Amino acid sequence: MRIFLSLLKNTNPKIEYYSRFSPSPLSIKQFLDFGRENACEKTSYMFLRKELPVRLANTMREVNLLPDNLLSQPSIRLVQKWYMQSFVELLDYENRKPEDPHTLNDFLEILIEIRNRHNDVVPTMAQGVIEYKEKFGFDPFSSSNIQYFLDRFYTNRISFRMLINQHTLLFGNDTNPAHPKHIGSIDPTCSVAEVVSGEFQNFPVIQGRKIKAPKKPIQVVYVPSHLFHMLFELFKNSMRATVELHENSAEGLPPVKARVTLGKEDLSIKISDRGGGVPLRKIDRLFNYMYSTAPTPSLEPGAVPLAGFGYGLPISRLYARYFQGDLKLYSMEGVGTDAVIYLKALSSESFERLPVFNKSAWRHYKTSPEADDWSNPSKEPRDASKSIYKANR
Ligand SMILES: Nc1ncnc2c1ncn2[C@@H]1O[C@H](COP(=O)(O)OP(=O)(O)OP(=O)(O)O)[C@@H](O)[C@H]1O
Ligand SMILES: [Mg+2]
Repeated sequence: MRIFLSLLKNTNPKIEYYSRFSPSPLSIKQFLDFGRENACEKTSYMFLRKELPVRLANTMREVNLLPDNLLSQPSIRLVQKWYMQSFVELLDYENRKPEDPHTLNDFLEILIEIRNRHNDVVPTMAQGVIEYKEKFGFDPFSSSNIQYFLDRFYTNRISFRMLINQHTLLFGNDTNPAHPKHIGSIDPTCSVAEVVSGEFQNFPVIQGRKIKAPKKPIQVVYVPSHLFHMLFELFKNSMRATVELHENSAEGLPPVKARVTLGKEDLSIKISDRGGGVPLRKIDRLFNYMYSTAPTPSLEPGAVPLAGFGYGLPISRLYARYFQGDLKLYSMEGVGTDAVIYLKALSSESFERLPVFNKSAWRHYKTSPEADDWSNPSKEPRDASKSIYKANR
C-alpha cells in the first residue's frame, strides 16, 4: 500500500500532463493504410508511447469525478489500480529510443501484458456498479452520471484495445494465418452478409432458413470482431424474445430475419423478430447500465463473461458508435422488434469517436439536475394547500 501511495504521488503530475492532450482519432482508412504500406514498427511505437498514456490519462481523470460512494467500492478500486499500473508501465518508454535493440520487443511484450491485465475491466466495473446500487439504492442523478461515464469509459477501452491489437497483430507473432488478407484486426473486404449468415448457423431456430443473398456481396472495411459482437448480442436478444413468447405455440417459432443494405453513406443491418416487442417507455432503459433486469451474474472463474449483465445492448451500441455508426431499436409492443446497426459505408469517414476530458465533461459531473421543464403527471398535487381545487372552493 505504501509503495502504491508513493507511486501515486509521483504519477499524478504525469496523469495531469497527459490528460491535457486530446486523443487523436484515427479513421479505419488510416489504420488500413498504415498497416498496408509496409508498416513501420518504429513509427507505430513513437505514436503509441504517447497516444496510449494520453488515452489512459483522459479516462483516469474522469474516473475521479465519480461519486465517492461508487469510487470506494472494492471492484472500482481494483480497476483503478490496473489503470494506474498500466499507465506507469507505459511511462517507462517516454525516453526509450526505438533504436535500442530491446525497446521495440519490450514494448510489444508490455502491450500484451497490459491488454491481459485489462481483460476483465467490464465485468469488474459492472460488479462495482451492482455493489453500489445494492448499498445506496438508485437515484436519477448518479444514474445519469454513471451512464455518461460508463459510455465514455468503455468507449475509451474499446479504442485502447484497438490500438494495442493493431500493433501486436502487425508486429508481433500473433498474426492470424486463417486471415492473411486482414490488416491487423481489420478486414478490408468484410462481407457483411457472410458474417450475418455465419451468425445464423449458430442458432437452432434459424437453422435451415435462407437469408436473401444480395446480387453483389455487400462489403465494408471493418473490424469483423466488432461486427460479430454486435450481431451476436442482437441475435441472442431476438432469439430469447422469440422463444419466450412462442415456446408453446402450435405454429412453431417465427423466424428472425436479417437484411443488409448499402447506401452512399450508410451500411445498415436490420435484425427483425416477432418476439412481442418492448413498450416505448422502456426502450431507453434497455441501454442503461443501472437498469439491468438480469440476475446478478457470477464472476466465478470460467463463467461466461458478461452474459446476463444486461450490457448486450449498451456495449454493442458503443461498438457501432466507435466508428461513427449507431445502433437503434424500433419496437412495436405486442408484435416485435427491429434492431438496426448503422455503419459508415466509407472507411475514410469512419473516424474513431473518442471521449475527451475537458471542461464540458467536467461540468457534466458537477452540475446538479435542474427542475424538469416539461410537465410531469404525478399523483399528488405539488403543494396540496395551493391546489387549484382548494383555491376555487
Ligand atoms: N429483440 C428484443 N425483443 C424484446 N425484448 C428485448 C429485445 N432486445 C432486448 N430486449 C430487452 O432488453 C433487455 C436488455 O437487453 P440487453 O441485451 O442489453 O441485456 P440482456 O439481454 O438482459 O443481458 P445480456 O445481453 O448482457 O446477456 C433484455 O433483457 C430484454 O428484456
Ligand atoms: Mg442481451
